[in-house]
Amino acid sequence: MTQPSQQEWRARAQKVLPAGGFGNYDPKVILKKGRGSRVWDEDGNEFIDFLIGSGPMLVGHNHPEVMEAVQAQLADGATFFTSNAVGIELAEVICDAVPCADQLRYVSTGSEADMYAMRLARAHTGRDLILKFEGGYHGMSGEALMSMAPQSLANFPMPVPDSAGIPQSTRDGVIVAPFNDITFARQIIAEYADKLAGVIVEPLQRLIPPVPEFLNALREETTRHGIVLIFDEVVTGCERSQSSCVRRFR
Ligand SMILES: Cc1ncc(COP(=O)(O)O)c(C=O)c1O
Repeated sequence: MTQPSQQEWRARAQKVLPAGGFGNYDPKVILKKGRGSRVWDEDGNEFIDFLIGSGPMLVGHNHPEVMEAVQAQLADGATFFTSNAVGIELAEVICDAVPCADQLRYVSTGSEADMYAMRLARAHTGRDLILKFEGGYHGMSGEALMSMAPQSLANFPMPVPDSAGIPQSTRDGVIVAPFNDITFARQIIAEYADKLAGVIVEPLQRLIPPVPEFLNALREETTRHGIVLIFDEVVTGCERSQSSCVRRFR
């Protein structure tokens, strides 16, 4: 039996998926398999994979050691919704490798991690307001979709929602500052100190490195006012620690 072509898959996707795809990437591309750094689409075209599954496929597709570990585990079951020994061991390895990590919580997405971090900051401080930086990406929650890619100009610190459907109450809970502006950040934190629960920042904002002293200034000001500082390291996370995690698991 002949396999459907990529064109046929696209037509089928149009019927059952909004905008004809999973929503992350050009829906015309329908990938079939990956080996190492290469992927192939449904028509057999080969690509170098710079997406790496949006992060998790760091060691490439179908890595023999990963495959061996996954296959060994599958024989004993895939998921239980309870704690398990392998997950506890991994938590030990990560806490060991990341100097600031005392404990960790597993979640399914970065959006959830950021949402919980912001909620935790509110619970801890008893305050409501979150400060984020224009252009910073913290997932898909209402708070996160404030001034991520603003289509209109607004006066700082007023946020511009990036999506329809975000209630005014969520907008009222967020203020926005320009990334890398130390003076502005210090001023806005001091001015809103009694209302601020947390400051959330990508230490490397997309492709923009922090200027010297920017992160130190955030650390200083948030500590001074008892505000939680949230480093969202979904992109950079564990960068220095990955090799030590991999080494220990071997
Ligand atoms: C810095 C940052 N925070 C949060 C997220 C959201 O992660 P997820 O897509 O897993 O919800 C991303 C995703 O790329 C990210 O880069």
